Amino acid sequence: MQSAAKPLSTAELAVRLLELHGEDLISSAGMQIEKRLSHHGSITCFDHSVAVAKMSVYMALKLRVRVDMRSMVRGALLHDYFLYDWRDGEAGHDLHGFKHARRALQNAERDFTLSPIARDVIVKHMFPLNITPPRYRESVFVTVADKVCAVREFSKSVWWMLPVVRRKHA
Ligand SMILES: [Fe+2]
Ligand SMILES: [Fe+2]
Repeated sequence: MQSAAKPLSTAELAVRLLELHGEDLISSAGMQIEKRLSHHGSITCFDHSVAVAKMSVYMALKLRVRVDMRSMVRGALLHDYFLYDWRDGEAGHDLHGFKHARRALQNAERDFTLSPIARDVIVKHMFPLNITPPRYRESVFVTVADKVCAVREFSKSVWWMLPVVRRKHA
């Protein structure tokens, strides 16, 4: 007699959905550029974007909220697709926090085909710093997931910058 397959955990299901809806973006030349751009502390823009997409899916599954999963995953993966080093001090890279969502949308529209929901996810993800609120629940999930991941990434970096902690764990 065959034993029943073990059901996937929510985290495992989130990874499966991420691969199903975003694998082509993750392996695209554009997103590979993000691997060279450090974002929050030692975290790259690529790792941050994947983490935000995974977190958004996880939250929607946990809360059992019906979403357009494909649009949410694709918007989340591209939400920081601005493709420059925001610390380089170059002209046009000032006021990064206020401007990069629009730049990310411009780049994403140039390189990929986006649904209206994915577009909203990208351009609204900096709410409330950018004052126009998200229009769709998918955008709300990504906006929240972005903040949760950013705090986690910054705190991880700050923790490891403390010399006493580094020594203790060396
Ligand atoms: Fe952002
Ligand atoms: Fe972000």
